[in-house]
Amino acid sequence: MEQRILLAGNWKMHKGPKEALSFLGDLDKALELEKTITEAIVSKKIELALFPPFISIPTFCDFNHKMIKWGGQNAHWEEKGAFTGEVSIPMLLELGCSYVILGHSERRHIFGETDEMVSKKLTAALDHGLSPVLCVGETLDERNGGKALSVIRRQLLSALEGVDSTKAAQIVVAYEPVWAIGTGRTASDADAQEACNFVRGLFVERCGQNIASGIRVLYGGSVSPKNAAGLLRQPDIDGALIGGASLSVESYIGIIKEALSVL
Ligand code: PGA
Repeated sequence: MEQRILLAGNWKMHKGPKEALSFLGDLDKALELEKTITEAIVSKKIELALFPPFISIPTFCDFNHKMIKWGGQNAHWEEKGAFTGEVSIPMLLELGCSYVILGHSERRHIFGETDEMVSKKLTAALDHGLSPVLCVGETLDERNGGKALSVIRRQLLSALEGVDSTKAAQIVVAYEPVWAIGTGRTASDADAQEACNFVRGLFVERCGQNIASGIRVLYGGSVSPKNAAGLLRQPDIDGALIGGASLSVESYIGIIKEALSVL
């Protein structure tokens, strides 16, 4: 089955509503000039999704650009309640979100999210029909200790605990080695392929071949216009989760063009 390439931009804690609006205006102008990109989006070969801070999601919703999807960077598993500072999945859906990033390494390492919390969030997202972008990946110590694949296995299988195989088809997985995030150090094409292939293999075990071959597995960690093509050419890499390079229209468009070159 031909997979469309998902180019997901994780803005992290960058761009409030004003900056988001000006980015969207500039991206719109750039897309107007790049007919090959818009054709690839319309023919579903490429999909664009941006993940602004919660407060800028209404800007995306109002702008409502037909070529761009958007999502939240996190969500709580409960629908509502006394959870100060949290945002629920129905709230994201109300603002037209197509995706939610779950279990990003910054959530795990800075904010103490556990595998169990990520699993509850994943189940809640699937129950509400919001596609999760589930992040997994090892630290440098874990990689150096030969534990990269076992960490990915633990994070993925615990997130999938209790998930119905039929719903699993909606999941996007982002393999993001922690040591490659924001460091300018990317996994080699071969290491990224090995990890993404391993992720797909876990889906085969857990949900069967059919679901596994339809799951999109992204690579994330210092993706840029320079390294995108090599990564996207790998058979088990179906897109990228892009942090820093998604903050400027120029570099985001640069990555999109690299993706076009591998189609
Ligand atoms: P980066 O971030 O591209 O800036 O390394 C990726 C991510 O954290 O999703």
